[in-house]
Amino acid sequence: MTTLADALRKVREGSTTPPPPPVEEKDTLDGVLPEEREGVPFAEVFGWEPERPLNITVLEGRPDVPAIDHSYMFPKKETEMLMRAIELGMKARLVGQPGTGKTELVKQVCARTGRSFGRINFNIAMEPEDLFGCVEVVDGATKFLEGDFVNWFREGYTILFDEMHRAPASFAMTMQRVFEDGGHLHLTAKRDGDNLIAPHPHTVMLAADNTKGLGDEMDSFGSAQIQDVSTINRWEVCIEMDYLSLEEEKTLITHYAPAIPADIRDKLATTSRLLKQAYKEKQVELPFSPRNLKTVCRLTVETGNPVTALAFSYANSLPAAQKSAVDKLVCDTVGFASMYGRIV
Ligand SMILES: Nc1ncnc2c1ncn2[C@@H]1O[C@H](COP(=O)(O)OP(=O)(O)OP(=O)(O)O)[C@@H](O)[C@H]1O
Ligand SMILES: [Mg+2]
Repeated sequence: MTTLADALRKVREGSTTPPPPPVEEKDTLDGVLPEEREGVPFAEVFGWEPERPLNITVLEGRPDVPAIDHSYMFPKKETEMLMRAIELGMKARLVGQPGTGKTELVKQVCARTGRSFGRINFNIAMEPEDLFGCVEVVDGATKFLEGDFVNWFREGYTILFDEMHRAPASFAMTMQRVFEDGGHLHLTAKRDGDNLIAPHPHTVMLAADNTKGLGDEMDSFGSAQIQDVSTINRWEVCIEMDYLSLEEEKTLITHYAPAIPADIRDKLATTSRLLKQAYKEKQVELPFSPRNLKTVCRLTVETGNPVTALAFSYANSLPAAQKSAVDKLVCDTVGFASMYGRIV
């Protein structure tokens, strides 16, 4: 059996297989990029046939398009529904635990379809002016300075309202009209006319949240606000996001750290599943998401010891009793203890 130390040494000596090359970008005809391609088969962009035929629009040459992340694994059903909602001009929200990939799914859909991406991170202290703009004195004269949202709304961005559960109630009031079908944005504080803004045909509004806004998960997300049912009702599509499967996590580990040998990779993937289960069952208070997994992979390569990596990147943040529970799980159930010691 190859030990982790052996594998890491080989990588340093350059003898292991390098990570797979990134997927080749497609050349366009004669190098000329059209601004908009309608009716592109879904499979041409995402690489699999959807359950029912779906043609999509691909934009070119727009600003603020996120970079493609080649390690990202699209969840099929959820991606298809998100693309259908976008094509139908519907507002969709994605709901799920931290690290289930809500934000990343939206970013990667934008990356693949050439859409401009704008993200609004709510916090409970946010004022409507932060989004919509306000009157300011510039060189002795009053002027309305528009917030980012206004520009994005007018210019055809895919706007993600992230962490909706933190949105203050004042936001919902202002957004009610925008959320109507074909809704305009009314900048009531702007007094110089031209204060009714129509959305660009490519403008898409999406939301991501850890809760469904109905008072669920309040013990896990302390600052969660219960949302007005009429606001929730205006989101036409709700996509539930779940964590990656065991096999997908193995692929992700290989991508994050190709030097980690298969037996350690499999144990880390199992650890990740068990920690997620422990979080769901409220045995530990911190979720174990792909963010944690990425850090564990990097520290495993750095220290040569997956148990040390798990301790410093995750278990040490937990209260003593929960840390002991993680120790049992990782060291006994998964079986890391015999080679790599214990967390406590
Ligand atoms: N399907 C996936 N394939 C590859 N990486 C993923 C996938 N889903 C999530 N990740 C990775 O996990 C990390 C967290 O994802 P993301 O920020 O999208 O989660 P989230 O659901 O928005 O979490 P939060 O609720 O905390 O905002 C990112 O580094 C992302 O690249
Ligand atoms: Mg997020």
